[in-house]
Amino acid sequence: MKRIPIIIDCDPGHDDALMLMLAFGSERFDIKAISTSAGNQTQEKTVSNALKLLTLMERRVPVFRGAEKPLLRDLIIADYVHGETGLDGPSLPQPIFEAEPIPAVEGLALILQQSEEKLTIVPTGPLTNIALLISVYPQIKDKIERISLMGGGIFRGNISPLAEFNIYADPEAAAIVFSSGVPITMAGLDVTHRALVFQEDIIQFRKIGTQTGKVAADLLDFFSKFYRENRLELNGGAALHDPCAIAWLMEPEIFKSKACYVQVETQGQLTTGTTVVDFYNVLSQTPNVEVLYDLDRKRYIEMLADALAKLP
Ligand code: RIB
Ligand code: CA
Repeated sequence: MKRIPIIIDCDPGHDDALMLMLAFGSERFDIKAISTSAGNQTQEKTVSNALKLLTLMERRVPVFRGAEKPLLRDLIIADYVHGETGLDGPSLPQPIFEAEPIPAVEGLALILQQSEEKLTIVPTGPLTNIALLISVYPQIKDKIERISLMGGGIFRGNISPLAEFNIYADPEAAAIVFSSGVPITMAGLDVTHRALVFQEDIIQFRKIGTQTGKVAADLLDFFSKFYRENRLELNGGAALHDPCAIAWLMEPEIFKSKACYVQVETQGQLTTGTTVVDFYNVLSQTPNVEVLYDLDRKRYIEMLADALAKLP
């Protein structure tokens, strides 16, 4: 089966780490590069975490350091979920290689320009790097097949009543991406709060017996603490957000989705960072986003376990 050519933009981050393990372990993707965003932690820490995770998985692709902060707003980080390092919990190897010497906007533009085929971009953090990329190089949009992102939500938020963290952290960047005309798949909180990982799943990952399986389990043990203490409705499960953006590319049939017109609010006092999803098409606008809202959780966990079993 032909591998899907992708670029990943992430802010590792515990669920970003599991997303990378799914992407690399599944052997379904030709991963051209990784760029890092500031979100779960500072850019300094997310780029270091990406390099550590690639070293752990014994994989090597170009890693490009992204923006230090959002386009206009001050940086906010999610250390209350991901800890001081951004990957608290496991011990990780020191990186055996460094990030590329050019910034993400330049590196990703070069890869897209030189590619003979269109590439899919998978952002799982704030959208600052992607907004900069398509603003500095607007013609590059012709080389993007689709953007499959984790972010937003139809009816809920997690950092404000209606805004999800990745969109809220840089709403201006998100507004640029959602109005770009590039086809988007949105794995928002509606689906990711059904993409739950429970203690028995973590035990299954640990039993794989590999270094990556152990790190995945240690990461999820730490990540689950926030959900046990703050999302009582999830019955002890942790929302494994970011791997959804990769899993949809692998097996879209395990998801339920609807094509909707979506734009991002950047002005509202209570609603800034909201993905405004026109679920019933009351505006009669052409849908620009495939909005995911449910999935087969057991199959999702199986996909993660299968990928982990193929990693060192
Ligand atoms: O709101 C969840 C998102 O914010 C995930 O991507 C998580 O990693 C954080 O970046
Ligand atoms: Ca993330």
